[in-house]
Amino acid sequence: MPEIKQGKKPTVLVTGGAGFIGRHLTAALRSAGMTVHSVDDLRVKPLADPDGSLVRKSVRELTPDDVSGVDVVYHLASDKSVPLSFVQPLQYLDNLESTAHLMRVCADAAVPRVLIASTCEVYGRAARLPTEESAPLAPLSPYAASKVAMEMVARTYQECADSGTDTTVVRFFNVYGPGERPDAVIPGFCLGALTDGSLCVEGSGTQRRDFSYIDDVVDQLVQLTAAAPVPVVNIGSGVSASVLEIAAIVRELCPSATVRWTRSRPNEIPEFRSDISLQRSLFSLRTPPVGLREGVERTLRWWSESGVLERHGSPAGSLLRPQLIG
Ligand SMILES: NC(=O)c1ccc[n+]([C@@H]2O[C@H](COP(=O)([O-])OP(=O)(O)OC[C@H]3O[C@@H](n4cnc5c(N)ncnc54)[C@H](O)[C@@H]3O)[C@@H](O)[C@H]2O)c1
Repeated sequence: MPEIKQGKKPTVLVTGGAGFIGRHLTAALRSAGMTVHSVDDLRVKPLADPDGSLVRKSVRELTPDDVSGVDVVYHLASDKSVPLSFVQPLQYLDNLESTAHLMRVCADAAVPRVLIASTCEVYGRAARLPTEESAPLAPLSPYAASKVAMEMVARTYQECADSGTDTTVVRFFNVYGPGERPDAVIPGFCLGALTDGSLCVEGSGTQRRDFSYIDDVVDQLVQLTAAAPVPVVNIGSGVSASVLEIAAIVRELCPSATVRWTRSRPNEIPEFRSDISLQRSLFSLRTPPVGLREGVERTLRWWSESGVLERHGSPAGSLLRPQLIG
């Protein structure tokens, strides 16, 4: 079985390197002294110009030469919108096909370790909260179904004796922070508060999500290169907050902002909350992690001070437009 050489800093490939998590992760891995290659086909327009070393390529164009000498692949590239996956479900087959291609290429090049980004959405309406990694998979959107399929194809290679690539599936709950596009709730509220003053709440706003600040997530992802291989691990905070609680935090920071109601998304899931026992045993977590109020304030400050609104024009129409794919 191929192994990461002891005593040598791993060489890493990040797919989806121009995206929200990929960008932060690439920077953190480089700060930790690792050699990092990143690829992205830029199907999602980045909020800031990608760094000069990013290779513009889709995952399906990767060859064994591209991953030769790589010790760890972080496979973050994915189409990831729940609502858009109902509009363009067949587009989400690409998540599966790209992952199957990547696993084949990594097996051919004897890459020792692949980390696959998945999501809490694979649990659907979980019977138990907090939800453990062993909970049944019950996806309720084409996006979630595509992530289950990604997980399964990765597991197939893990089980395949002649592959030798260790695979860990990382199920993110809601990750937020500077640089995330505003089709997620926290950056959406920040953008709304700073532009037309409205916070757009889908449905009742009582739906609860488990939010983790990007720096805390990336800190754990960096540790994964050296952690004992496990088949699957949740990355969450272990607590949940409602959309209305997030709106209240933003309104404390921007008192003139008001809530605007819109209809619920299809198959809305009332709550996600992560069981973090395994996560705690694998990683030394920052103490304390960034709290929700502090994280929302940092994200809002980024939207107000980074120049992103000016770069994308005002009003921020191009940012609010949904990311249609293809
Ligand atoms: N952000 C979250 O809260 C969250 C939660 C659960 C799961 N995830 C998963 O984490 C991963 C990263 O999420 P993110 O928030 O950084 O998303 P993102 O949309 O910001 O980044 C994804 C990047 O992948 C690129 N991409 C997509 N398909 C590609 C392909 N086939 N080839 C090359 N590039 C491709 C896009 O251009 C984009 O830059 C995704 O797999 C997502 O499903 C994220």
